[in-house]
Amino acid sequence: MARDFGDAVETKPFIAGETYIPASGKVVEGDDVAAMVDACLDMWLTAGRFADRFEAELARRFGLKHALLTVSGSAANLLAVTALTSPKLNGGLRPGDEVLTVAASFPTTVAPIIQNGCVPVFVDVNLATGNVLPERMAAAVGPKTKAIVLAHTLGNPFDLGAIAKLAEDQDLFLIEDCCDALGATYAGKPVGTFGDFATLSFYPAHHITTGEGGAVLSNKKSLSKLAESFRDWGRDCWCKPGCDDTCGKRFDQQMGDLPRGYDHKYTYSHLGYNLKVTDMQAAIGLTQLAKADRLIARRRENWIALTAALKAAGLEEWFILPEATPNSDPSWFGYLLTVRDHDRLDRAALVRRLEERRIGTRQLFGGNLLRQPAFRTIEHRVVGDLANTDKIMHDSFWIGVWPGIDAPRIAYMVETLATLVKELGR
Ligand SMILES: Cc1ncc(COP(=O)(O)O)c(C=O)c1O
Repeated sequence: MARDFGDAVETKPFIAGETYIPASGKVVEGDDVAAMVDACLDMWLTAGRFADRFEAELARRFGLKHALLTVSGSAANLLAVTALTSPKLNGGLRPGDEVLTVAASFPTTVAPIIQNGCVPVFVDVNLATGNVLPERMAAAVGPKTKAIVLAHTLGNPFDLGAIAKLAEDQDLFLIEDCCDALGATYAGKPVGTFGDFATLSFYPAHHITTGEGGAVLSNKKSLSKLAESFRDWGRDCWCKPGCDDTCGKRFDQQMGDLPRGYDHKYTYSHLGYNLKVTDMQAAIGLTQLAKADRLIARRRENWIALTAALKAAGLEEWFILPEATPNSDPSWFGYLLTVRDHDRLDRAALVRRLEERRIGTRQLFGGNLLRQPAFRTIEHRVVGDLANTDKIMHDSFWIGVWPGIDAPRIAYMVETLATLVKELGR
């Protein structure tokens, strides 16, 4: 019998005010468990036949040529940025180069820029879309600017028309952090297909899950090979686990100062990591990917239902409601609410009360990252002010749209927000 192994709560009774409504969660079903067991029974353990298939399926879904599985979305971002630092890449990132981004971010979207000795340049975002203001980004390009790294905030694509054009016009690399946006499209094309690299996260909060996990996608073989090298210990060789001599010249090359014929498998062209996955992760990734469209459709339905209910309850007077970026079809990760008037409603008091009433909330990740302890002393540049980013830090939060949320829960969430606004609002 099919059993629901996840946090999907459709099948569980909902008691308003008692049953917790998480802001995010996984949906894991019988086929996912069966796939993992299948991979377990292989006892291959490292990346194997399931990883090959999952990489191929991911690439196919995006219409891209290359997908590399890795241990997390954070690792995917690290690999994408680090690949651009390779000495093998003409015009790649060098220490001191600038990378344009936003401070209203997840920390590990921005951290790889700093970890690679580059300088992040921050511009402000739009409060309704949560995404970069493209005209600010255009104004931020300087002589040292080499790349743009941006996430599609909460599943809402950033203005890819403007940003991809800026990257092209200014000859900048573009990394799309799609960790929260699997399935979103811009101008009818999947996000992740506009830049040099796309990254994904499969952490349980995300559209599909492998527990821990992520991927780096690219249409460019040269870039994907660099990311693969950094993922796989920094080696020059690209043999899959358990394979030898894929290049046909394993003992037949002269590389730098190495003895002639030195094993290519043990030749290192980068200071790398080991960020590969296990086949169990890949196995569940395959079954999750097969159901991604169903899960994404539920997120979209929930987002629409929440918007209608919040408007009907008059809550637009209190909150800036989220808006899809023009020309896009988001694949919502969460429902962003920003208190309009800080003096009339205190976000901290509101989220505390929501949690007391069993409604899960999240802040928009790091808020203004520059105010986070780890980022306070980093070398950086800010272009224009970060007024909206600061407002997000003080006045925004998000609630869930994931498939475990249904009509009774949405009704309760909106009813509770309306009650709390009356109680706390001034
Ligand atoms: C936009 C964004 N990028 C990167 C990540 C990191 O992904 P992971 O948790 O898999 O490391 C997250 C995490 O949720 C995220 O929201």
